Amino acid sequence: MPSDATSQAPETMPLSVEVTPLAIHIGAEISGVDLSRPLPPEQVRDIRAALLKWKVVFFRDQPMTHRQHIEFSRQFGALTPGHVVYGGDGEFPEIYPITKHRTANNFQDQVLLRPWTGWHTDLTAAINPPMASILRGVIVPPYGGDTQFTSLVAAYNALSPTMRGFVDGLRGIHRNAPPQEVKAGKEYEELVQKRTLISEHPLVRVHPETGERALYAGPIHLKSIAGLSPRESQVLLEMLWEHLVRTEFTVRFKWEPGSVAFWDNRAACHLAPRDIFDSDFDREFYRTTLVGDVPVGVDGKRSTSLQGDPITAA
Ligand code: SIN
Repeated sequence: MPSDATSQAPETMPLSVEVTPLAIHIGAEISGVDLSRPLPPEQVRDIRAALLKWKVVFFRDQPMTHRQHIEFSRQFGALTPGHVVYGGDGEFPEIYPITKHRTANNFQDQVLLRPWTGWHTDLTAAINPPMASILRGVIVPPYGGDTQFTSLVAAYNALSPTMRGFVDGLRGIHRNAPPQEVKAGKEYEELVQKRTLISEHPLVRVHPETGERALYAGPIHLKSIAGLSPRESQVLLEMLWEHLVRTEFTVRFKWEPGSVAFWDNRAACHLAPRDIFDSDFDREFYRTTLVGDVPVGVDGKRSTSLQGDPITAA
């Protein structure tokens, strides 16, 4: 696995696709594949294996329609609605548009009210957060607008044994309310009111396919640690959040039109670009997400829902 990747030769398995690692712990580029058509079973198998190993895989030069994006995604699992809060893209309920047009934003508000971080794992406020996300770039800035990913497995493994033992037994409260310092629009608040999700997840999640332990502590939705005082919780979370985005656990992806990123939300956390708001560039991206299962901790205990329904297939 990438945690021991330093002691391994580059890819040696005979694969039906070419897998080129981009960093030690996370990220590989896959070539020799056409995502716009149904894939042969061995390519589905090898892409899935690369995803499990590298946490996020990237593809270049894969222009797709919404329909092709949906069909590609379906080969790896059932699709969720585009977004449980915001919905989908018109006649394509499975597609979540992620577009940033500077003219559509109040620039000063963006700068002043921007939360301290945007690192997150998708929809961890749900009892069954999406297993994976598949993002395709259509309009891509000439520079800037990169997406960063971090390996929650590498982050967990790099904690001291004592700290690992401590966090193994903890559980986090995840909620999809906007961060307090953001005065989000009325429309957003109404949507969140209607679709508030709160879940208690293990702070260390055992990956259902690889058995790896991941530090399941993506900042945006994780609000507190159960059983700790507010101060204890805050200080521990600050330490873990700083730790999990250490550059050695990360990979940074520079997009081109037709690029696709496919990440495993059970083992990775990501950061949507923030520099784009400081530019005149447009960025038009579309995402699908795959239905996920209920996380399980080191002690075998499953997550519990405190508010809201599980995410079901679109
Ligand atoms: C996301 O957070 O899912 C989108 C990432 C991006 O826009 O680069």
